[in-house]
Amino acid sequence: MCGIVGYVGSREAVPLLMAGLTNLEYRGYDSAGIAAFDGTGLIVQKCVGRLSALGERLKNEPVEGRVGIGHTRWATHGEPSEINSHPHLDCTGRIAVVHNGIIENYQELRAALEAKGHQFISQTDTEVIPHLIEAALSDGAKSFEEALQTALKLARGAYALGILFKDQPDRFYAARHGSPLVVGVGKGEQFIASDVPAIVSQTRDVIYLNDGEIATLTPDGVRVTNLDGQEVKHEIVTVTLRAESVERAGFETFMLKEIHEQPRVLRNLLDKHVSPDSSVLMPGFGLSPQYFKKLNRVMIVSCGTAYHAGMYGKLLLENLTRIAVETDLGSEFRYRDPKIDPGTLIVAVSQSGETADTLASVRMAKSWGCKTLSICNVPGSTLVRVSDAVFFTDAGPEIGVASTKAYTAQLMAFGLLAIHIGLSRGEISEKDAQTLLRDLQAIPDAIHYVLRRKDSIRAIADKHHDGPSSLYLGRRFNYPTALEGALKNKEISYQHAEGYAAGEMKHGPIALINEYLPVVCICTKTRDEVYEKMISNVKEVEARHGKIIAIATDGDTAFDRLAEDIVFVPPTRDEFSPLVNVVALQLLAYYAAQARGTDIDKPRNLAKSVTVE
Ligand code: G6P
Repeated sequence: MCGIVGYVGSREAVPLLMAGLTNLEYRGYDSAGIAAFDGTGLIVQKCVGRLSALGERLKNEPVEGRVGIGHTRWATHGEPSEINSHPHLDCTGRIAVVHNGIIENYQELRAALEAKGHQFISQTDTEVIPHLIEAALSDGAKSFEEALQTALKLARGAYALGILFKDQPDRFYAARHGSPLVVGVGKGEQFIASDVPAIVSQTRDVIYLNDGEIATLTPDGVRVTNLDGQEVKHEIVTVTLRAESVERAGFETFMLKEIHEQPRVLRNLLDKHVSPDSSVLMPGFGLSPQYFKKLNRVMIVSCGTAYHAGMYGKLLLENLTRIAVETDLGSEFRYRDPKIDPGTLIVAVSQSGETADTLASVRMAKSWGCKTLSICNVPGSTLVRVSDAVFFTDAGPEIGVASTKAYTAQLMAFGLLAIHIGLSRGEISEKDAQTLLRDLQAIPDAIHYVLRRKDSIRAIADKHHDGPSSLYLGRRFNYPTALEGALKNKEISYQHAEGYAAGEMKHGPIALINEYLPVVCICTKTRDEVYEKMISNVKEVEARHGKIIAIATDGDTAFDRLAEDIVFVPPTRDEFSPLVNVVALQLLAYYAAQARGTDIDKPRNLAKSVTVE
């Protein structure tokens, strides 16, 4: 949802801003722009479309300068166009602003400013910010800082801002409320960015700004104040992220790289959380076994792919801990006035830790007195900072917009947590826990096995990618897998896809089935009757001539005559089979998208981090 960057120092700003924006383009790619001071004044260059279009423009019309800000946009207010691209200026052209977030009261602010004679040129909410600062300056603010404070006190909503002021070409300003922003502290130079990967090749020393704070950045340092101008001291945090982890490492796309990283990510999580004597380790975890013993209700809140992880988490937690667990989408939970008592544990699942609806849900639950646990991939993210306890998924930066490794890491996190909580409550024995952990430890190799068969998955995708629609069916632990497989397909291949609980198929989707509809059926073997029920569902599809693509357990011959194509996966414990099955579906979607010629890492209209409602 938009990425912003800024630089001040002794080097040329524009190449650094462009490098930072390249790492943030996953946040939006409707347009891009930069502003910098060169010898003559404040210069703005912006372009509709991808960052590469701005790169081309800058080749022909270079901008020099040692201070600058930049933006890559995911359009919220106003269509993608040059006029709506950031940076936005005030009437005098002295103040330039880049923004990530939404100024919710922009219409009333704009009307008041227009009544005072301010001229607006875009349809964006952002444009009110430079005009508000301009108005505060002409109303007699004693300094630019004071004008900025006045302006921000009037703005309601979410923002991360980078601001240049023509009269102060030795510095720039940044401010944050509700949208992510990190300050990079260098030697004789400073940076800002929407996230750490955008600046990690320049500095690892960062300051995470809090809501309601303004930073003034000069080559000599960073000064942070609140909106009343009082100085706020911040600790500088050294991040461990390596610059190489935000590179494609020879893969054709980030998504393919991230799909292949899954065995390593999961093995690392297992190494961190399973002791040599097979018990679950929770280093620095904020909730004790005694707490879990008394716990009787869990509410899992998340969005998108993380919501599917939450659905899986519910099944596993209920199974292994016997706690009542519910799930909800962040955007529904926060507006449905749920009946939640303070004894309920709220579990938020989020790759980025910045999803607006997930964050708002957590904040709401905290205000009711609930404890909050987040399963999150980004250290220093807002979610991590507001939660009582955190389980880090440690998947490393995920750049492909469609989530893959973060998802399987979330499933693994639920696996480890469920075993830990089940043991703490005495619902499973030490011996059960050891068996479960052993089965969990087999997962990375099972995923390797699927990855090695990617060519056969590609052949299936090549055959079926053409139609307008496809259906994904699964039951119990693999019902969320069906939803996630369908989501992956529609996100990156733009083929309509619907995930359904296989038992529900008779209540509607069966009407869609004909000889043209690919139906992906997840029918890996289980210990209970779910497998047989799944076979019956597959037969119902066959009877209506649907094109069956089965995800089946290696050696299982039950689908030889039923399915048109079969992806074999190794046998795994039912509870953990989604971690393996979903990888087959990720690859299926990946190769379908490739055959359909889409931009896999940056699918149209999507953004990786949804920081607006
Ligand atoms: C966007 C992304 C998805 C992600 C969802 C939730 O829609 O494209 O991949 O699952 O946001 O994001 P979060 O960072 O909270 O997991």
